[in-house]
Amino acid sequence: MNDVPQALRERALTALSAARARTAALTDCVDEQDLTAQHSPLMSPLVWDLAHIGNQEELWLLRHVGGRDPMHPEIDSLYDAFEHPRAERPSLPLLPPAEARRYSAEVRGRVLDLLEHTTFEGTALLDDGFAFGMVVQHEQQHDETMLITHQLRKGAAVLAAPDPGPPAGPPVTATEVLVPGGPFTMGTSTEPWALDNERPAHVRDLAPFWIDTLPVTNADFQAFIEAGGYRDRRLWAAEGWDQIRRHAIGAPLFWRREPGGWVRRRFGVTEPVPAQEPVLHVSWYEADAFARWTGRRLPTEAEWEKAARHDPVTGRSTRYPWGDEDPTPAHANLGQRHLRPAAAGSYPQGASPLGVRQLIGDVWEWTSSDFEPYPGFTAFPYKEYSEVFFGPGHKVLRGGSFAVDPVACRGTFRNWDLPVRRQIFSGFRTARDA
Ligand code: AVJ
Ligand code: FE
Repeated sequence: MNDVPQALRERALTALSAARARTAALTDCVDEQDLTAQHSPLMSPLVWDLAHIGNQEELWLLRHVGGRDPMHPEIDSLYDAFEHPRAERPSLPLLPPAEARRYSAEVRGRVLDLLEHTTFEGTALLDDGFAFGMVVQHEQQHDETMLITHQLRKGAAVLAAPDPGPPAGPPVTATEVLVPGGPFTMGTSTEPWALDNERPAHVRDLAPFWIDTLPVTNADFQAFIEAGGYRDRRLWAAEGWDQIRRHAIGAPLFWRREPGGWVRRRFGVTEPVPAQEPVLHVSWYEADAFARWTGRRLPTEAEWEKAARHDPVTGRSTRYPWGDEDPTPAHANLGQRHLRPAAAGSYPQGASPLGVRQLIGDVWEWTSSDFEPYPGFTAFPYKEYSEVFFGPGHKVLRGGSFAVDPVACRGTFRNWDLPVRRQIFSGFRTARDA
């Protein structure tokens, strides 16, 4: 008996079920009107995500892997992200909530049947169960997207989760560590569910650099505001200066200054800005300006990955800062267990060998790098996941936020967005040349 297929089957089933439970939690807590409303022109109505998740699952698992015919060919174009930009989606004849749920559930039923019988052979898509892993990560990515929609939604709170609590272990103070120069392996050719843009593994030779042990906090960022950072043109890239002038931006998104101090709106609740939490909802331009104000800079993507993966003892690149084990709740703030980042200095067990904390989870970290393919990149299985976004328009974010599932987050995972975006769960840390 070969138990490899059985192990893959269990892994896929667990991840598919967890993703669907989260999708349900994010869409069952609001009424029909809320599901079909557009809460921001930047986002789709939640009901679009719901059916789009099912549609992608049908496309990749039932049609490409299973060889089945389309279930409802007439709806495909509605849920093709490239045919209709987000702002247009509310005016499309979308499936109403009950039908969207029924469609995605029906696809899932057939997928579970396919999973039960597959031998994971016959197509490259099935190697290591990749197609299942890709579909799972797609749903988890949309779970993060839907959480962003919840954050943008006006009105009373509908989501709740326990707070992360204070950091475990002795208090740590923010400092920087020296990452020695030399080669390291970036990207992966062995991580089974790594997506196309994380491949292949290749060697990068970096000059030595210093990197912050902790993400930049709200207190740090407040000091930048009080020092007039938003009014000092010299700190800003031209397009960033343009954006903050045009939209009168003077603080992270969702912040408001009140007589008693800064407050923020978080999932429908207004609360004082917590000083020790990593700053959240800043654009690449805001991160870049802050770094310049401190006389530092954002790390490059390669520097970030070396800080997160290079083991100075073995010279090997690990899957995560703490080693090769999958993330547990002691390592990182992931998976929407908490609906906020944990205080800077949390997760001692998640530290890198050099003592860099919270590289994984809490907040996505802006890097200075454009989203570009690695040498030897090949689009797999479709160009619209990564390839069409390569180029100088998009900046890379690393490490994942509290909103991303552990299955869709690892030391090699690459996220990207436009440098003006601030509704995403984005923060940063800084670096400097040695
Ligand atoms: C990797 C987060 C940039 O949301 O645009 C979802 C993920 N791709 N459906 C995005 C994605 C197709 C993607 N990001
Ligand atoms: Fe999608």
